[in-house]
Amino acid sequence: MKSPPTELPQSNTGLSVDAERLLSSLAAMAELGATPKGGVNRQTLTDLDREARDLFCTWCDEAGLSVRVDEMGNLFARRAGRDDNRDPVQTGSHLDTQPTGGRYDGALGVLAGLEVMRALNDADYVTEAPLELVMWTNEEGCRFAPAMMGSGVHAGLHDRDFMMQVEDPDGRSFGEELQRIGYQGPIPCTYRRNPTGALIELHIEQGPLLEDEGIAIGVVTGGQAQRWYEIELVGMESHAGTTPMPVRRDALVAAAGIVTAVRALGEEFAPHARTTCGVLEARPNSRNVIPGSVFLTVDMRHPDAQVLATMDARLRAAAGDSAGRERVTCTVRQILEVPAVEFHAEVVEAVRSATADLSYSHRDIISGAGHDAMNVARVAPAGMVFIPCVDGISHNEIENALPDDIIRGANVLLGALVSLADRPGLDTAA
Ligand code: GLV
Ligand code: MN
Ligand code: MN
Repeated sequence: MKSPPTELPQSNTGLSVDAERLLSSLAAMAELGATPKGGVNRQTLTDLDREARDLFCTWCDEAGLSVRVDEMGNLFARRAGRDDNRDPVQTGSHLDTQPTGGRYDGALGVLAGLEVMRALNDADYVTEAPLELVMWTNEEGCRFAPAMMGSGVHAGLHDRDFMMQVEDPDGRSFGEELQRIGYQGPIPCTYRRNPTGALIELHIEQGPLLEDEGIAIGVVTGGQAQRWYEIELVGMESHAGTTPMPVRRDALVAAAGIVTAVRALGEEFAPHARTTCGVLEARPNSRNVIPGSVFLTVDMRHPDAQVLATMDARLRAAAGDSAGRERVTCTVRQILEVPAVEFHAEVVEAVRSATADLSYSHRDIISGAGHDAMNVARVAPAGMVFIPCVDGISHNEIENALPDDIIRGANVLLGALVSLADRPGLDTAA
């Protein structure tokens, strides 16, 4: 953290977070898996993830929160309310990162949520409904696909047993690794056992809009639709020096056609489409062997689910064409579908008014990234707060967020959570 935060306005409830405490917790968490370039590599269910969870649990314990763990390793840290029978108002995010991740993607939402609990403790403030801080397992999906796994099982979108068997690139299963790090809990992973009265997740925007427009807070009204695919191409391994060009069945050449087609789809459905091939594994990966098989991943997103469905059909056709030209077999498997999500009107309004109370500049925004709050939104009232990140960069070790922006976001989170927890109840039909 380079410069200390400046004096920022407090909400009209008089509550505010402790800036130094939040920034130092973020810095301490960022040491677990710190990379030489200033980022973090703390992939899910690794020893570093265990250390991050242990630190989280210690901090929760010190803040008087009682932690329960579900079967997917999701952690729920509870602060009792005046009426403890009400469904809790939740906040949180994730502590896992990309292999070349940043210090704020996920950790900000978890530790700002913790700071809200600490600030309420300092003020001896008891909310009507209980509050819960949630740490979701495997949001990133880089080691075990798909992404947002813990919240996905919780919301009933994925099958728990199927997810337990998913393997990482070294052939270790999610279930074995969860047990190995000691975070497979006894509680069923379902919103029916761990209900949500309302949920707000604070996150860096991970894009450039807020910074470009000089706006402090993004009031997130929804998230765009997203699909993930795994493509297997199988051709024929053979000698690079002797196999004539016309008889080759080169799986990598077929993959190259798909990568180019995926990029072209993103451009054709501009300005909102986003298309990426992130993983490409050619086998046997030897310079003088024609690649016999390839594994390739595709990530496609668009705010309009209909357009994304059209892009899906076009991807499948392009993959078939490219494979056909090279006479290789092609299997396209969709492994994740996140529909476009509209956040709950009353939760969105709570974020907007908490921001207005603090006189921070704000605008409505749709999330380009996937978030656990989008899974929760399928079963309970949910919303999000965004803050700017430097140059709009994320999923990169240079990811950064400014102290003032962090503190503003945490104060908005505090105000919105308290307002939701203190009102008689939400109109769940809204
Ligand atoms: C989450 O990290 C995403 O890929 O949107
Ligand atoms: Mn994230
Ligand atoms: Mn991420």
